[in-house]
Amino acid sequence: MSVDRSSWQIKDEAVLAELVQLMNLSADEAAILKSLHDAAQKQAPAMREDFYKRLLAHPQTAEYFSNINMKHMYETLQNWFVELFNGVYDETYARRRITIGRVHVRIGLPVRYPIAMLDVAMAHAEAVARTHPQPDAAMAAVRKVIALDVAVFNQAYEDRQIQILADTVGNERLARRLLSEE
Ligand code: HEM
Repeated sequence: MSVDRSSWQIKDEAVLAELVQLMNLSADEAAILKSLHDAAQKQAPAMREDFYKRLLAHPQTAEYFSNINMKHMYETLQNWFVELFNGVYDETYARRRITIGRVHVRIGLPVRYPIAMLDVAMAHAEAVARTHPQPDAAMAAVRKVIALDVAVFNQAYEDRQIQILADTVGNERLARRLLSEE
């Protein structure tokens, strides 16, 4: 592959703004999500319970929690879930979500785990969407914000790989070419 891509220039918080545009996350959808904020708060403890039940039952994922204050984890996960229904998907939101992705890169967690676990978040977010008077529209909006999180989580991992390779080979452009050529 010989061409540079304009997508390579979009970085950090700008990634989320770009994706909001790509996904056509509209002001109406953001308003629907915001209107579900209280319902999300009610749903959050059940979501957190299912989430950790699954993670702690699996030896490879459970071992990440051996020295972790679970009360803090419960709170941060619930906050993460409720924030999906923030209604504002701006730079500050992007920064918070990217930071969460980076925390997982730093602890050496293979990306397949957080991505797979979004299944639990999706099921509970759908339950929240069903409480809306227009459940189909709410469901479409929920799917988009979850997709944004999948994208941002992955981006945190890819950014780290490109950064390490760029430091090794001397520049990012070469790193991207090495990663993309067969
Ligand atoms: C949908 C997937 C996930 C979400 C939304 C999520 C959310 C979060 C959040 C919000 C934090 C706090 C970040 C901070 O302190 O700024 C966190 C930390 C953490 N997560 Fe996750 N997480 C996910 C998947 C996982 C999985 C699959 C594991 C392990 C198998 C895991 C292990 C941890 C650990 C160990 C920390 C604490 C890191 C530290 O403070 O050193 N997470 N997670």
